[in-house]
This record gives sequence, C-alpha cells and structure tokens, in this order.
Amino acid sequence: KTTVIDIDPENINEDAIRKAAILIRKGEVVAFPTETVYGLGANALDASAVHRIFEAKGRPSDNPLIVHICDISMLEEVVEHVPSKALLLMERFWPGPLTIIMKKHKKIPYEVTAGLDTVGVRMPDHPIALALIRSAGVPIAAPSANISGRPSPTKPEHVIADMQGRIAAIIAGGTCKVGVESTVLDLSGNNPVLYRPGGITLEMLEEVIGKVDTASGILKPVFAEGAVPSPGMKYKHYSPKAKVIIVDGPIDRVIARIKKEADAYRQKGYNVGIMATEQTKAMYSEYMVIAVGDREKPETIAAALFDTLRLFDKAKADVVLAEAVDANGVGLAIMNRMVRAAGFDIIHA
Ligand code: TXA
Ligand code: MG
Repeated sequence: KTTVIDIDPENINEDAIRKAAILIRKGEVVAFPTETVYGLGANALDASAVHRIFEAKGRPSDNPLIVHICDISMLEEVVEHVPSKALLLMERFWPGPLTIIMKKHKKIPYEVTAGLDTVGVRMPDHPIALALIRSAGVPIAAPSANISGRPSPTKPEHVIADMQGRIAAIIAGGTCKVGVESTVLDLSGNNPVLYRPGGITLEMLEEVIGKVDTASGILKPVFAEGAVPSPGMKYKHYSPKAKVIIVDGPIDRVIARIKKEADAYRQKGYNVGIMATEQTKAMYSEYMVIAVGDREKPETIAAALFDTLRLFDKAKADVVLAEAVDANGVGLAIMNRMVRAAGFDIIHA
C-alpha cells in the first residue's frame, strides 16, 4: 500500500517531511518532486534500498542512478574528488538541473552506479527535495519516478498512475517547473562530455568551463552497445502508447505535411493527435490538437512535453504527429526527448 503525502512546496510541513524521511532511513522507496521531474528516491548508501528502486521501476540493472544532495558537504561521502571545473559549475548552477559525473566514493555502492566507478550527482532546486534529503541525513539516489520507458512524471497524478502499490510513499508536491530531466555532464575524464541535454544548456556550460564535447547519441540512435558511455542513452524512452512521428523543416511545410499525414492515417482508421504550438494550433482545428507551448519560449514546451504525451494517451490517440522545434538552447533537450519518444521516426518536410 502506497501512502500519498501532500506537501505544499510554498509552505512546507516539516512533520510530513519527517514522515517521508523516516521511510527513507528505513530503506524504503519514496517518490518526491524536484524542479525537473519527480524522482524515485532511496538511501544512496544502502544497497538493498537502492535495489528496490530498480524493482519498482522495472529498470535495467545496467543503467545508473543519480545521487541527490542538499549540501556541498555531502559530496564528501559521495565522490572521491571534485574536479576544478565541477566546482565552477556547482557555484554557478547548483542547486539546479545539472548532474555532474565524477569518480565515486567507496561508500557509494555499485548498485547505484550500475557497476561503474563514476557517479552522477546533483543538488535539486526544489524546497521539498532539499528538505527531504536534509531530514533523512543521507544522500538520496533517484531516477525519474516513471515505469521504465514511460514519459517522466511532472505531476503527482503521473507518479500515482505509475507507482501506486509499488513503493512505500509518494510526496505529492505540485507540478515540476523545468519539465525535462537534468543536464548530465561527465567530468570524470579529460574532456567534459554532455550525455543528456537539459535545463542547463550546452551554451550555459561552455560559458563557464569552455569547450564541452557532445556525445553522439543525443539526437541519433546509438547502436554500438559496448560503446555507449551513458547507459540511459540506449534505451527506448519517454514513450506514450501512441506511435509518435516528428515532422521537421520550415514551419509552413511542416504544417502542410502534418495535415497530409493526418488525413492518410485517419483514412486508415487511426485516431490521430497533433502536437502543435500556440503559434500553429489554429492550423489544425479539424483534428485532435494540443498546443504543447510557445515556440518563442521553448522552456514552456519543455515544461509541458511529458504531460502532453500522457494526455494523448488519455485521449486514446494511436498516432501523434509532432512539430519539431529548433535544437538549440533548451530546444536541444526537447528534441533529445522527442526523438526518443518517436523511436527516431522523423519526417523531413
Ligand atoms: O532531473 C533528473 O535528473 C531526474 C530527477 C529525479 O533528479 N532524474 C533522472 O534520473 O532523470 P534517470 O535515472 O531517469 O536518468 C539518469 C541518467 C541516465 O541516462 C543514466 O544513464 C545517466 O543519467 N547516468 C547516471 N549516472 C551515470 C554515470 N555514472 N555515467 C554515465 N551516465 C550516468
Ligand atoms: Mg528517466
């Protein structure tokens, strides 16, 4: 039986936080909000608690978890050493949606890192997450709180839909503001490498530490199993039940092509959904259309992307035709999630 604990992020009830923290200390799994997406948390120093996360999520055991801290001093028992570039980035972007991969401390069990000698760490920018970690007094390992392969949860109802009956408790604490998972940056080697784009953009990172390499799988499938530096890159992700197809190109041609594809799928008897933007939704008034956000403000698209994918499932769409966005700034994070949701099915209009 899963307890749902309601906490207002603007007015934190410390007793409710303590209740959840006690469960963490007992080795239980508790879902909690962060500024990116909801996390599925357990004591990062307790191997059997961490094992429970993998079970609840149905996550492949070779995909490592991120360790969440509330205080820089907590790094002492999480990483062996903090590189100077990491320090610069922490000063600038923590608390915030940036995960930094460093050499792991021996106290962090290999269950957390999926056997790797490195560990991803971040300090979330969310009052509930920070209060929970502080009250538990231990670093908290947490992947996104979805069933493996589903869109990440950004609202309590998404977590309840996926995790009810599978974990001890869910903290229901409002909607996540960023909406896509943290940026994952590897600083354990000679050169910084971006594995997963997120709210802290490539441009923002380079402003602080100079050149950052980009892993090749960000907008493309990775086929060479052995060569995948960050295991999360190789899994099918973020998938609604519907088949998602992205259409990219100049916007007028995108609109025309989406209508043409929509008509063709309709004729075959499919229930077709269209993921458009505020600027374009009026063009599709004869179809099931959802505006995911504002093209001029890509952070609004990031914030609503996963919820929108889940809405198409609720509406029983069989096929979702989605407008691409420009892949720079936060747009790179949006397209990274969209191409995975689409299984890399992209039409160039
Ligand atoms: O915003 C977020 O990062 C959310 C919230 C809950 O903090 N968490 C999250 O965790 O998205 P998860 O497990 O869904 O994604 C973690 C990603 C995976 O793609 C994983 O492969 C990569 O980070 N990762 C973690 N540790 C790594 C390591 N040591 N080396 C390479 N990749 C790593
Ligand atoms: Mg995830």
